[in-house]
Amino acid sequence: MPQHDVLVIGAGLAGQRAALAAAETGASVGVISKVHPVRSHSNAAAGGINAALDPEDSWESHAFDTVKGSDYLGDQDAIEVMCREAPDEVLRLEHLGVTFHRSDEGKLGTRAFGGASAARTYYVADITGQALLHVLYEQLMKHDEVTRYEEWFTTALARDDSGRLAGAVTRNIRDGSLELFTAKAVILATGGNGQIFNPTTNALICTGDGIAMAYRAGAPLMDMEMVQYHPTTLAGIGLLITEGARGEGAHLLNAEGERFMENYAPNKMELASRDVVSRAEQTEINEGRGFPDGTVALDITVVPRHRILQSLREIVNVGRDFAGVDITSEPIHIKPGNHYVMGGIKTDIDGQTDVPGLYAAGECACVSVHGGNRLGANSLLDTLIFGRRSGVHAAQMGRGMAQPTPAGSELAREREAIQSIISRDRSGRRLSEIKAEMGKVMDEQVSVFRDEERLRGALEVVKRLQEEVKTVAVDDKGSVFNQDVLGALELQFMLDNAECIVMGAIERKESRGAQFRTDFPERNDDEWLKHINLTADGDIPAVSYSDVTMTQWEPEERTY
Ligand code: FUM
Repeated sequence: MPQHDVLVIGAGLAGQRAALAAAETGASVGVISKVHPVRSHSNAAAGGINAALDPEDSWESHAFDTVKGSDYLGDQDAIEVMCREAPDEVLRLEHLGVTFHRSDEGKLGTRAFGGASAARTYYVADITGQALLHVLYEQLMKHDEVTRYEEWFTTALARDDSGRLAGAVTRNIRDGSLELFTAKAVILATGGNGQIFNPTTNALICTGDGIAMAYRAGAPLMDMEMVQYHPTTLAGIGLLITEGARGEGAHLLNAEGERFMENYAPNKMELASRDVVSRAEQTEINEGRGFPDGTVALDITVVPRHRILQSLREIVNVGRDFAGVDITSEPIHIKPGNHYVMGGIKTDIDGQTDVPGLYAAGECACVSVHGGNRLGANSLLDTLIFGRRSGVHAAQMGRGMAQPTPAGSELAREREAIQSIISRDRSGRRLSEIKAEMGKVMDEQVSVFRDEERLRGALEVVKRLQEEVKTVAVDDKGSVFNQDVLGALELQFMLDNAECIVMGAIERKESRGAQFRTDFPERNDDEWLKHINLTADGDIPAVSYSDVTMTQWEPEERTY
Protein backbone atom coordinates (compact mmCIF):
# COMPACT_ATOMS: atom_id res chain seq x y z
CA MET A 1 0.00 0.00 0.00
CA PRO A 2 1.82 3.21 -1.15
CA GLN A 3 1.93 5.81 1.63
CA HIS A 4 2.66 9.54 1.49
CA ASP A 5 2.19 12.62 3.63
CA VAL A 6 0.54 14.40 0.71
CA LEU A 7 -1.07 12.77 -2.29
CA VAL A 8 -1.61 15.04 -5.28
CA ILE A 9 -4.04 13.77 -7.91
CA GLY A 10 -3.46 15.44 -11.26
CA ALA A 11 -0.15 16.76 -12.57
CA GLY A 12 -0.99 19.84 -14.59
CA LEU A 13 0.16 23.20 -13.31
CA ALA A 14 -1.91 23.19 -10.10
CA GLY A 15 -0.85 19.65 -9.21
CA GLN A 16 2.82 20.14 -9.98
CA ARG A 17 2.93 23.48 -8.15
CA ALA A 18 1.22 21.90 -5.14
CA ALA A 19 3.65 18.97 -5.18
CA LEU A 20 6.68 21.24 -5.43
CA ALA A 21 5.49 23.44 -2.56
CA ALA A 22 4.75 20.42 -0.35
CA ALA A 23 8.10 18.80 -1.20
CA GLU A 24 9.95 22.00 -0.33
CA THR A 25 8.66 21.65 3.24
CA GLY A 26 10.18 18.15 3.40
CA ALA A 27 6.90 16.23 3.09
CA SER A 28 6.77 12.94 1.22
CA VAL A 29 4.61 13.56 -1.85
CA GLY A 30 2.95 11.19 -4.31
CA VAL A 31 1.80 12.65 -7.61
CA ILE A 32 -0.73 10.59 -9.54
CA SER A 33 -1.52 11.46 -13.13
CA LYS A 34 -3.62 9.67 -15.72
CA VAL A 35 -1.32 10.95 -18.47
CA HIS A 36 2.34 11.82 -18.52
CA PRO A 37 2.47 15.15 -16.63
CA VAL A 38 3.75 17.23 -19.54
CA ARG A 39 0.74 16.06 -21.56
CA SER A 40 -1.65 17.65 -19.05
CA HIS A 41 -4.26 20.08 -20.35
CA SER A 42 -2.32 23.05 -18.88
CA ASN A 43 -0.34 22.61 -22.11
CA ALA A 44 -3.22 24.15 -23.99
CA ALA A 45 -3.22 27.44 -22.06
CA ALA A 46 -1.87 29.65 -24.74
CA GLY A 47 -2.04 33.38 -24.17
CA GLY A 48 -0.34 34.08 -20.86
CA ILE A 49 -0.49 34.74 -17.15
CA ASN A 50 -1.62 37.95 -15.43
CA ALA A 51 0.36 39.86 -12.84
CA ALA A 52 0.56 43.55 -11.95
CA LEU A 53 4.36 43.77 -12.12
CA ASP A 54 4.69 47.13 -13.80
CA PRO A 55 5.20 50.01 -11.30
CA GLU A 56 2.42 51.90 -13.13
CA ASP A 57 0.04 49.00 -12.47
CA SER A 58 -1.21 47.75 -9.09
CA TRP A 59 -2.54 44.53 -7.58
CA GLU A 60 -5.66 46.50 -6.60
CA SER A 61 -6.33 47.33 -10.25
CA HIS A 62 -5.83 43.67 -11.21
CA ALA A 63 -8.16 42.65 -8.38
CA PHE A 64 -10.85 45.13 -9.35
CA ASP A 65 -10.74 43.97 -12.99
CA THR A 66 -11.11 40.39 -11.74
CA VAL A 67 -14.04 41.26 -9.45
CA LYS A 68 -15.77 43.13 -12.27
CA GLY A 69 -14.99 40.32 -14.72
CA SER A 70 -16.57 37.84 -12.28
CA ASP A 71 -19.77 39.92 -12.38
CA TYR A 72 -19.29 40.42 -8.64
CA LEU A 73 -19.70 36.72 -7.83
CA GLY A 74 -15.98 36.18 -7.09
CA ASP A 75 -14.94 36.16 -3.43
CA GLN A 76 -12.95 39.32 -2.97
CA ASP A 77 -10.69 38.02 -0.18
CA ALA A 78 -9.51 35.20 -2.48
CA ILE A 79 -9.13 37.57 -5.44
CA GLU A 80 -7.00 39.90 -3.30
CA VAL A 81 -4.73 37.01 -2.31
CA MET A 82 -4.33 35.91 -5.94
CA CYS A 83 -3.57 39.36 -7.31
CA ARG A 84 -1.27 40.37 -4.46
CA GLU A 85 0.81 37.20 -4.77
CA ALA A 86 0.89 37.22 -8.59
CA PRO A 87 4.04 39.31 -9.21
CA ASP A 88 6.28 37.20 -6.93
CA GLU A 89 4.95 33.98 -8.45
CA VAL A 90 5.62 35.09 -12.02
CA LEU A 91 9.13 36.26 -11.13
CA ARG A 92 9.78 32.99 -9.32
CA LEU A 93 8.78 31.00 -12.39
CA GLU A 94 10.97 33.26 -14.53
CA HIS A 95 13.91 32.60 -12.24
CA LEU A 96 13.26 28.86 -12.43
CA GLY A 97 13.64 29.06 -16.19
CA VAL A 98 10.41 30.08 -17.93
CA THR A 99 11.47 32.06 -21.00
CA PHE A 100 8.87 34.83 -20.85
CA HIS A 101 8.83 37.20 -23.80
CA ARG A 102 11.19 40.15 -23.45
CA SER A 103 11.11 43.50 -25.22
CA ASP A 104 13.95 44.86 -27.35
CA GLU A 105 15.36 46.51 -24.20
CA GLY A 106 15.40 43.10 -22.51
CA LYS A 107 12.47 43.83 -20.20
CA LEU A 108 9.65 41.36 -19.60
CA GLY A 109 6.99 42.13 -22.20
CA THR A 110 3.23 42.10 -21.79
CA ARG A 111 0.20 41.86 -24.03
CA ALA A 112 -3.32 43.13 -23.42
CA PHE A 113 -6.02 40.62 -22.48
CA GLY A 114 -9.80 40.86 -22.15
CA GLY A 115 -11.40 42.77 -19.30
CA ALA A 116 -8.07 44.16 -18.08
CA SER A 117 -7.45 47.87 -17.56
CA ALA A 118 -3.69 47.44 -18.14
CA ALA A 119 -1.56 45.20 -20.35
CA ARG A 120 -0.43 42.79 -17.61
CA THR A 121 -0.34 39.43 -19.37
CA TYR A 122 3.13 37.85 -19.43
CA TYR A 123 3.60 35.23 -22.09
CA VAL A 124 5.80 32.80 -23.98
CA ALA A 125 4.59 33.25 -27.59
CA ASP A 126 1.29 31.33 -27.57
CA ILE A 127 2.62 28.33 -25.61
CA THR A 128 2.70 29.84 -22.10
CA GLY A 129 1.10 26.87 -20.33
CA GLN A 130 3.45 24.45 -22.03
CA ALA A 131 6.50 26.51 -21.06
CA LEU A 132 5.41 26.64 -17.41
CA LEU A 133 4.55 22.95 -17.32
CA HIS A 134 7.95 21.83 -18.56
CA VAL A 135 9.84 24.03 -16.11
CA LEU A 136 7.80 22.78 -13.17
CA TYR A 137 8.30 19.18 -14.25
CA GLU A 138 12.07 19.70 -14.32
CA GLN A 139 11.89 21.14 -10.81
CA LEU A 140 9.86 18.21 -9.52
CA MET A 141 12.40 15.74 -10.88
CA LYS A 142 15.04 17.31 -8.60
CA HIS A 143 13.09 16.38 -5.48
CA ASP A 144 13.67 12.97 -3.90
CA GLU A 145 10.62 13.61 -1.72
CA VAL A 146 8.40 13.29 -4.79
CA THR A 147 7.29 9.96 -6.27
CA ARG A 148 5.48 10.22 -9.59
CA TYR A 149 2.83 7.68 -10.55
CA GLU A 150 2.44 8.42 -14.24
CA GLU A 151 -0.45 6.82 -16.13
CA TRP A 152 -2.39 5.90 -13.02
CA PHE A 153 -6.11 6.66 -12.95
CA THR A 154 -7.82 7.47 -9.65
CA THR A 155 -11.30 6.03 -9.38
CA ALA A 156 -12.41 7.01 -5.84
CA LEU A 157 -11.37 8.78 -2.68
CA ALA A 158 -11.04 6.83 0.55
CA ARG A 159 -11.99 8.02 4.02
CA ASP A 160 -11.17 6.66 7.47
CA ASP A 161 -13.72 5.63 10.07
CA SER A 162 -14.05 9.22 11.30
CA GLY A 163 -14.91 10.46 7.81
CA ARG A 164 -11.54 12.14 7.29
CA LEU A 165 -9.87 11.77 3.87
CA ALA A 166 -7.28 9.03 4.13
CA GLY A 167 -6.26 8.21 0.57
CA ALA A 168 -7.47 7.15 -2.85
CA VAL A 169 -8.10 4.07 -4.96
CA THR A 170 -6.03 4.18 -8.13
CA ARG A 171 -5.69 1.93 -11.16
CA ASN A 172 -2.34 1.42 -12.87
CA ILE A 173 -3.32 1.94 -16.51
CA ARG A 174 -0.35 -0.10 -17.73
CA ASP A 175 -1.44 -3.38 -16.15
CA GLY A 176 -4.89 -2.79 -14.66
CA SER A 177 -3.84 -3.39 -11.04
CA LEU A 178 -5.70 -1.47 -8.37
CA GLU A 179 -3.98 0.09 -5.33
CA LEU A 180 -5.18 1.85 -2.22
CA PHE A 181 -2.89 4.83 -1.55
CA THR A 182 -2.90 6.34 1.93
CA ALA A 183 -2.08 9.95 2.73
CA LYS A 184 -2.55 12.49 5.49
CA ALA A 185 -3.89 14.93 2.92
CA VAL A 186 -5.14 14.53 -0.64
CA ILE A 187 -5.01 17.45 -3.10
CA LEU A 188 -7.26 17.17 -6.14
CA ALA A 189 -5.78 18.99 -9.11
CA THR A 190 -7.58 17.12 -11.86
CA GLY A 191 -8.57 20.07 -14.05
CA GLY A 192 -11.87 20.88 -15.71
CA ASN A 193 -14.74 19.03 -17.30
CA GLY A 194 -14.97 20.46 -20.84
CA GLN A 195 -15.46 17.02 -22.41
CA ILE A 196 -19.06 17.12 -21.17
CA PHE A 197 -19.64 19.54 -24.03
CA ASN A 198 -19.06 18.93 -27.70
CA PRO A 199 -17.20 20.74 -29.13
CA THR A 200 -14.78 22.03 -26.52
CA THR A 201 -11.30 23.52 -26.39
CA ASN A 202 -10.50 20.96 -23.69
CA ALA A 203 -8.33 17.89 -24.13
CA LEU A 204 -9.90 14.42 -24.09
CA ILE A 205 -8.61 13.98 -20.54
CA CYS A 206 -10.76 16.84 -19.12
CA THR A 207 -13.55 14.69 -17.78
CA GLY A 208 -14.26 16.25 -14.37
CA ASP A 209 -12.86 13.24 -12.47
CA GLY A 210 -11.80 15.14 -9.34
CA ILE A 211 -14.99 17.20 -9.22
CA ALA A 212 -17.10 14.03 -9.32
CA MET A 213 -14.94 12.16 -6.80
CA ALA A 214 -15.07 15.05 -4.32
CA TYR A 215 -18.84 15.32 -4.80
CA ARG A 216 -19.26 11.59 -4.17
CA ALA A 217 -17.10 11.93 -1.04
CA GLY A 218 -19.45 14.59 0.35
CA ALA A 219 -17.67 17.84 -0.58
CA PRO A 220 -19.97 20.63 -1.80
CA LEU A 221 -19.57 21.89 -5.37
CA MET A 222 -20.00 25.65 -5.86
CA ASP A 223 -21.32 27.73 -8.79
CA MET A 224 -21.22 24.79 -11.21
CA GLU A 225 -23.57 26.63 -13.58
CA MET A 226 -20.80 29.07 -14.44
CA VAL A 227 -19.31 27.59 -17.61
CA GLN A 228 -17.22 29.77 -19.90
CA TYR A 229 -17.66 29.85 -23.65
CA HIS A 230 -14.46 31.26 -25.19
CA PRO A 231 -15.16 33.74 -28.00
CA THR A 232 -12.70 32.35 -30.53
CA THR A 233 -12.83 28.63 -31.23
CA LEU A 234 -12.97 26.73 -34.49
CA ALA A 235 -16.49 25.62 -35.39
CA GLY A 236 -17.07 21.86 -35.23
CA ILE A 237 -13.77 20.88 -33.65
CA GLY A 238 -13.52 23.50 -30.92
CA LEU A 239 -9.79 24.21 -31.20
CA LEU A 240 -8.73 27.40 -29.42
CA ILE A 241 -7.64 30.50 -31.27
CA THR A 242 -5.94 32.35 -28.44
CA GLU A 243 -7.30 35.59 -27.02
CA GLY A 244 -3.70 36.69 -27.50
CA ALA A 245 -4.71 37.39 -31.12
CA ARG A 246 -7.19 40.03 -29.97
CA GLY A 247 -4.61 41.18 -27.43
CA GLU A 248 -2.27 41.82 -30.36
CA GLY A 249 -5.03 43.85 -32.09
CA ALA A 250 -7.14 41.41 -34.18
CA HIS A 251 -10.70 42.47 -35.06
CA LEU A 252 -14.01 40.60 -34.95
CA LEU A 253 -16.16 41.03 -38.06
CA ASN A 254 -19.63 39.84 -38.96
CA ALA A 255 -20.53 38.61 -42.43
CA GLU A 256 -21.35 42.19 -43.44
CA GLY A 257 -17.78 43.21 -42.62
CA GLU A 258 -18.80 45.24 -39.56
CA ARG A 259 -16.67 45.42 -36.43
CA PHE A 260 -19.76 44.57 -34.41
CA MET A 261 -18.22 44.89 -30.92
CA GLU A 262 -18.82 48.65 -31.33
CA ASN A 263 -22.48 47.89 -30.57
CA TYR A 264 -21.82 45.80 -27.47
CA ALA A 265 -18.67 47.11 -25.76
CA PRO A 266 -17.68 50.42 -27.34
CA ASN A 267 -14.85 51.09 -24.90
CA LYS A 268 -13.10 47.73 -24.78
CA MET A 269 -14.29 46.39 -28.16
CA GLU A 270 -12.78 42.92 -28.79
CA LEU A 271 -11.12 43.04 -25.36
CA ALA A 272 -14.30 43.12 -23.32
CA SER A 273 -14.63 40.16 -20.97
CA ARG A 274 -15.26 36.76 -22.54
CA ASP A 275 -18.91 36.39 -21.52
CA VAL A 276 -19.69 39.74 -23.15
CA VAL A 277 -17.81 38.96 -26.39
CA SER A 278 -19.26 35.46 -26.70
CA ARG A 279 -22.81 36.76 -26.23
CA ALA A 280 -22.18 39.48 -28.83
CA GLU A 281 -20.94 36.93 -31.36
CA GLN A 282 -23.82 34.56 -30.70
CA THR A 283 -26.29 37.42 -31.07
CA GLU A 284 -24.78 38.34 -34.46
CA ILE A 285 -25.02 34.70 -35.54
CA ASN A 286 -28.57 34.22 -34.20
CA GLU A 287 -29.81 37.42 -35.84
CA GLY A 288 -28.50 36.40 -39.25
CA ARG A 289 -25.35 38.52 -39.51
CA GLY A 290 -23.00 35.55 -39.23
CA PHE A 291 -21.63 33.32 -41.99
CA PRO A 292 -23.62 30.32 -43.28
CA ASP A 293 -21.36 27.98 -41.25
CA GLY A 294 -22.66 29.57 -38.02
CA THR A 295 -19.59 31.69 -37.35
CA VAL A 296 -18.22 35.23 -37.40
CA ALA A 297 -14.70 36.15 -38.47
CA LEU A 298 -11.51 36.96 -36.61
CA ASP A 299 -9.29 39.21 -38.71
CA ILE A 300 -5.69 38.82 -37.56
CA THR A 301 -4.30 40.32 -40.78
CA VAL A 302 -4.39 43.75 -39.09
CA VAL A 303 -1.54 42.56 -36.83
CA PRO A 304 1.91 43.02 -38.46
CA ARG A 305 3.03 39.75 -40.07
CA HIS A 306 6.36 39.63 -38.23
CA ARG A 307 4.49 39.97 -34.92
CA ILE A 308 2.09 37.14 -35.81
CA LEU A 309 5.00 34.87 -36.68
CA GLN A 310 6.83 35.82 -33.50
CA SER A 311 4.09 35.70 -30.91
CA LEU A 312 1.13 33.79 -32.37
CA ARG A 313 2.91 31.00 -34.18
CA GLU A 314 0.81 28.13 -32.80
CA ILE A 315 -2.40 29.59 -34.20
CA VAL A 316 -0.67 30.08 -37.55
CA ASN A 317 -0.30 26.29 -37.49
CA VAL A 318 -3.82 25.67 -36.19
CA GLY A 319 -5.33 27.91 -38.88
CA ARG A 320 -3.36 26.21 -41.64
CA ASP A 321 -3.75 22.61 -40.46
CA PHE A 322 -7.31 22.61 -39.17
CA ALA A 323 -9.11 25.33 -41.13
CA GLY A 324 -6.97 25.62 -44.28
CA VAL A 325 -6.55 29.34 -43.56
CA ASP A 326 -3.37 31.42 -43.61
CA ILE A 327 -4.20 33.78 -40.74
CA THR A 328 -1.50 36.23 -41.83
CA SER A 329 -3.41 36.96 -45.04
CA GLU A 330 -7.12 36.18 -44.48
CA PRO A 331 -9.70 36.21 -41.65
CA ILE A 332 -10.52 32.93 -39.94
CA HIS A 333 -14.07 31.84 -39.05
CA ILE A 334 -14.67 31.35 -35.32
CA LYS A 335 -17.50 30.98 -32.82
CA PRO A 336 -17.98 30.78 -29.06
CA GLY A 337 -17.02 27.34 -27.74
CA ASN A 338 -16.87 25.57 -24.39
CA HIS A 339 -13.61 26.40 -22.63
CA TYR A 340 -13.61 26.49 -18.82
CA VAL A 341 -15.66 25.82 -15.69
CA MET A 342 -15.57 28.64 -13.15
CA GLY A 343 -17.39 26.50 -10.59
CA GLY A 344 -16.01 23.41 -8.92
CA ILE A 345 -15.10 21.96 -5.53
CA LYS A 346 -15.70 24.63 -2.90
CA THR A 347 -12.45 25.54 -1.13
CA ASP A 348 -11.00 28.23 1.10
CA ILE A 349 -7.90 30.26 0.18
CA ASP A 350 -5.64 27.40 1.29
CA GLY A 351 -7.40 24.85 -0.86
CA GLN A 352 -9.26 23.16 2.01
CA THR A 353 -12.63 21.67 1.15
CA ASP A 354 -15.41 20.94 3.63
CA VAL A 355 -14.14 17.33 3.97
CA PRO A 356 -11.23 17.18 6.47
CA GLY A 357 -7.97 16.25 4.76
CA LEU A 358 -9.29 16.93 1.24
CA TYR A 359 -7.91 19.86 -0.76
CA ALA A 360 -8.52 21.06 -4.31
CA ALA A 361 -6.65 23.49 -6.57
CA GLY A 362 -6.79 24.70 -10.16
CA GLU A 363 -9.76 24.35 -12.49
CA CYS A 364 -11.43 21.59 -10.47
CA ALA A 365 -11.62 23.95 -7.47
CA CYS A 366 -13.85 26.95 -6.84
CA VAL A 367 -11.98 29.27 -4.45
CA SER A 368 -13.81 31.43 -5.87
CA VAL A 369 -11.62 33.85 -7.82
CA HIS A 370 -13.50 33.72 -11.13
CA GLY A 371 -17.11 33.99 -9.95
CA GLY A 372 -19.43 34.21 -12.94
CA ASN A 373 -16.77 34.76 -15.58
CA ARG A 374 -13.00 34.23 -15.64
CA LEU A 375 -10.68 36.78 -17.18
CA GLY A 376 -8.29 35.37 -19.75
CA ALA A 377 -4.82 34.64 -18.31
CA ASN A 378 -6.13 34.43 -14.74
CA SER A 379 -6.38 30.65 -14.89
CA LEU A 380 -2.67 29.94 -15.08
CA LEU A 381 -2.31 32.34 -12.17
CA ASP A 382 -5.03 30.57 -10.19
CA THR A 383 -3.34 27.19 -10.71
CA LEU A 384 0.02 28.43 -9.45
CA ILE A 385 -1.11 30.55 -6.51
CA PHE A 386 -3.66 28.13 -5.10
CA GLY A 387 -1.63 25.08 -6.08
CA ARG A 388 1.25 26.44 -4.01
CA ARG A 389 -0.95 27.45 -1.10
CA SER A 390 -2.65 24.03 -1.02
CA GLY A 391 0.68 22.22 -1.11
CA VAL A 392 2.10 24.23 1.79
CA HIS A 393 -1.05 23.96 3.89
CA ALA A 394 -1.55 20.25 3.28
CA ALA A 395 2.07 19.47 4.19
CA GLN A 396 1.92 21.55 7.37
CA MET A 397 -1.41 20.11 8.40
CA GLY A 398 -0.04 16.56 8.17
CA ARG A 399 3.14 17.23 10.14
CA GLY A 400 3.23 15.09 13.28
CA MET A 401 0.00 13.34 12.35
CA ALA A 402 -0.16 9.50 12.29
CA GLN A 403 -0.71 7.87 8.89
CA PRO A 404 -4.48 7.41 8.59
CA THR A 405 -6.13 4.08 7.88
CA PRO A 406 -8.77 4.06 5.13
CA ALA A 407 -11.96 2.28 6.10
CA GLY A 408 -11.09 -0.52 3.67
CA SER A 409 -14.34 -0.94 1.78
CA GLU A 410 -13.41 1.41 -1.10
CA LEU A 411 -10.81 -0.85 -2.68
CA ALA A 412 -13.19 -3.83 -2.78
CA ARG A 413 -16.03 -1.67 -4.07
CA GLU A 414 -13.95 -0.19 -6.88
CA ARG A 415 -12.57 -3.60 -7.85
CA GLU A 416 -16.10 -4.96 -8.08
CA ALA A 417 -17.36 -1.96 -10.07
CA ILE A 418 -14.55 -2.29 -12.62
CA GLN A 419 -14.98 -6.04 -12.87
CA SER A 420 -18.67 -5.61 -13.52
CA ILE A 421 -17.95 -3.19 -16.40
CA ILE A 422 -15.45 -5.64 -17.93
CA SER A 423 -17.57 -8.75 -17.55
CA ARG A 424 -20.85 -7.23 -18.79
CA ASP A 425 -22.10 -8.47 -22.16
CA ARG A 426 -23.04 -5.92 -24.76
CA SER A 427 -26.69 -5.05 -24.39
CA GLY A 428 -27.31 -1.31 -24.13
CA ARG A 429 -25.83 1.65 -25.96
CA ARG A 430 -22.17 2.23 -26.72
CA LEU A 431 -20.15 4.59 -24.54
CA SER A 432 -19.44 6.80 -27.54
CA GLU A 433 -23.15 7.22 -28.26
CA ILE A 434 -23.89 8.28 -24.70
CA LYS A 435 -20.98 10.72 -24.70
CA ALA A 436 -22.06 12.18 -28.03
CA GLU A 437 -25.65 12.69 -26.84
CA MET A 438 -24.44 14.36 -23.65
CA GLY A 439 -22.06 16.65 -25.56
CA LYS A 440 -24.77 17.67 -28.01
CA VAL A 441 -27.46 18.45 -25.45
CA MET A 442 -25.03 20.41 -23.28
CA ASP A 443 -23.79 22.49 -26.22
CA GLU A 444 -27.27 23.10 -27.60
CA GLN A 445 -29.17 23.71 -24.36
CA VAL A 446 -26.68 24.69 -21.64
CA SER A 447 -24.40 27.13 -23.44
CA VAL A 448 -24.31 30.89 -24.14
CA PHE A 449 -28.07 31.49 -23.89
CA ARG A 450 -30.18 29.37 -21.52
CA ASP A 451 -33.82 29.14 -20.45
CA GLU A 452 -35.83 27.02 -18.03
CA GLU A 453 -37.52 24.84 -20.62
CA ARG A 454 -34.34 23.84 -22.45
CA LEU A 455 -32.44 23.39 -19.17
CA ARG A 456 -35.14 21.06 -17.86
CA GLY A 457 -35.00 19.16 -21.16
CA ALA A 458 -31.22 18.83 -20.76
CA LEU A 459 -31.62 17.56 -17.19
CA GLU A 460 -34.03 14.89 -18.37
CA VAL A 461 -31.52 13.70 -20.97
CA VAL A 462 -28.67 13.67 -18.45
CA LYS A 463 -30.75 11.67 -15.93
CA ARG A 464 -31.62 9.12 -18.64
CA LEU A 465 -27.97 8.85 -19.69
CA GLN A 466 -26.97 8.26 -16.06
CA GLU A 467 -29.20 5.18 -16.12
CA GLU A 468 -28.00 4.03 -19.55
CA VAL A 469 -24.33 4.26 -18.55
CA LYS A 470 -24.95 1.64 -15.83
CA THR A 471 -25.48 -1.02 -18.48
CA VAL A 472 -22.77 -0.19 -21.03
CA ALA A 473 -20.38 -2.95 -21.91
CA VAL A 474 -16.82 -2.50 -23.13
CA ASP A 475 -15.18 -4.27 -26.06
CA ASP A 476 -11.72 -4.49 -24.49
CA LYS A 477 -11.76 -7.12 -21.75
CA GLY A 478 -7.99 -6.97 -21.12
CA SER A 479 -5.93 -5.35 -18.39
CA VAL A 480 -3.14 -3.60 -20.33
CA PHE A 481 -3.88 0.03 -21.26
CA ASN A 482 -7.60 -0.66 -21.25
CA GLN A 483 -8.85 2.75 -22.41
CA ASP A 484 -12.37 1.34 -22.77
CA VAL A 485 -12.70 0.81 -19.02
CA LEU A 486 -11.23 4.25 -18.39
CA GLY A 487 -13.77 5.71 -20.81
CA ALA A 488 -16.64 4.07 -18.90
CA LEU A 489 -15.42 5.43 -15.55
CA GLU A 490 -14.80 8.89 -17.02
CA LEU A 491 -18.26 8.97 -18.56
CA GLN A 492 -19.85 8.33 -15.15
CA PHE A 493 -17.79 11.20 -13.71
CA MET A 494 -18.83 13.45 -16.61
CA LEU A 495 -22.51 12.73 -16.12
CA ASP A 496 -22.28 13.71 -12.43
CA ASN A 497 -20.65 16.97 -13.53
CA ALA A 498 -23.28 17.54 -16.22
CA GLU A 499 -26.11 17.03 -13.75
CA CYS A 500 -24.62 19.59 -11.35
CA ILE A 501 -24.05 22.15 -14.13
CA VAL A 502 -27.65 21.89 -15.30
CA MET A 503 -29.04 21.88 -11.74
CA GLY A 504 -27.08 25.04 -10.91
CA ALA A 505 -28.22 26.70 -14.13
CA ILE A 506 -31.88 25.90 -13.36
CA GLU A 507 -31.49 27.12 -9.80
CA ARG A 508 -29.93 30.51 -10.63
CA LYS A 509 -32.89 32.53 -11.85
CA GLU A 510 -30.97 35.54 -13.12
CA SER A 511 -28.30 36.48 -15.67
CA ARG A 512 -24.79 36.96 -14.33
CA GLY A 513 -21.42 36.39 -15.99
CA ALA A 514 -21.46 33.33 -18.22
CA GLN A 515 -25.00 32.36 -17.18
CA PHE A 516 -27.43 34.27 -19.40
CA ARG A 517 -31.06 33.24 -18.83
CA THR A 518 -33.28 34.60 -21.61
CA ASP A 519 -36.21 34.15 -19.20
CA PHE A 520 -34.41 36.16 -16.48
CA PRO A 521 -32.27 38.56 -18.55
CA GLU A 522 -31.20 40.89 -15.70
CA ARG A 523 -28.64 40.48 -12.95
CA ASN A 524 -30.55 40.40 -9.67
CA ASP A 525 -28.25 41.30 -6.78
CA ASP A 526 -31.11 41.42 -4.28
CA GLU A 527 -31.85 37.73 -4.63
CA TRP A 528 -28.88 36.12 -6.37
CA LEU A 529 -25.68 37.76 -5.19
CA LYS A 530 -24.81 34.44 -3.58
CA HIS A 531 -23.06 31.19 -4.34
CA ILE A 532 -25.03 28.06 -5.15
CA ASN A 533 -23.68 24.95 -3.43
CA LEU A 534 -24.61 21.42 -4.46
CA THR A 535 -24.04 18.39 -2.26
CA ALA A 536 -24.61 14.74 -3.15
CA ASP A 537 -27.89 13.60 -1.65
CA GLY A 538 -29.49 10.54 -3.19
CA ASP A 539 -31.08 11.01 -6.56
CA ILE A 540 -30.53 14.73 -7.03
CA PRO A 541 -28.07 17.16 -5.46
CA ALA A 542 -29.14 19.09 -2.35
CA VAL A 543 -29.00 22.86 -2.91
CA SER A 544 -27.74 25.40 -0.38
CA TYR A 545 -26.32 28.92 -0.59
CA SER A 546 -23.34 30.80 0.77
CA ASP A 547 -22.47 34.49 0.88
CA VAL A 548 -20.13 36.16 -1.56
CA THR A 549 -17.22 37.68 0.38
CA MET A 550 -16.95 41.42 -0.23
CA THR A 551 -13.93 43.41 0.89
CA GLN A 552 -13.75 46.74 -0.94
CA TRP A 553 -15.80 46.61 -4.12
CA GLU A 554 -19.58 47.05 -4.08
CA PRO A 555 -21.46 45.67 -7.10
CA GLU A 556 -21.90 48.18 -9.93
CA GLU A 557 -23.40 48.05 -13.37
CA ARG A 558 -20.94 46.19 -15.57
CA THR A 559 -20.08 47.84 -18.89
CA TYR A 560 -17.02 47.62 -21.11
O1 FUM B 1 -7.21 32.47 -25.25
C1 FUM B 1 -6.37 31.99 -24.51
O2 FUM B 1 -5.17 32.07 -24.73
C2 FUM B 1 -6.83 31.33 -23.29
C3 FUM B 1 -6.31 31.71 -22.14
C4 FUM B 1 -7.02 31.41 -20.90
O3 FUM B 1 -8.05 30.72 -20.94
O4 FUM B 1 -6.60 31.92 -19.85
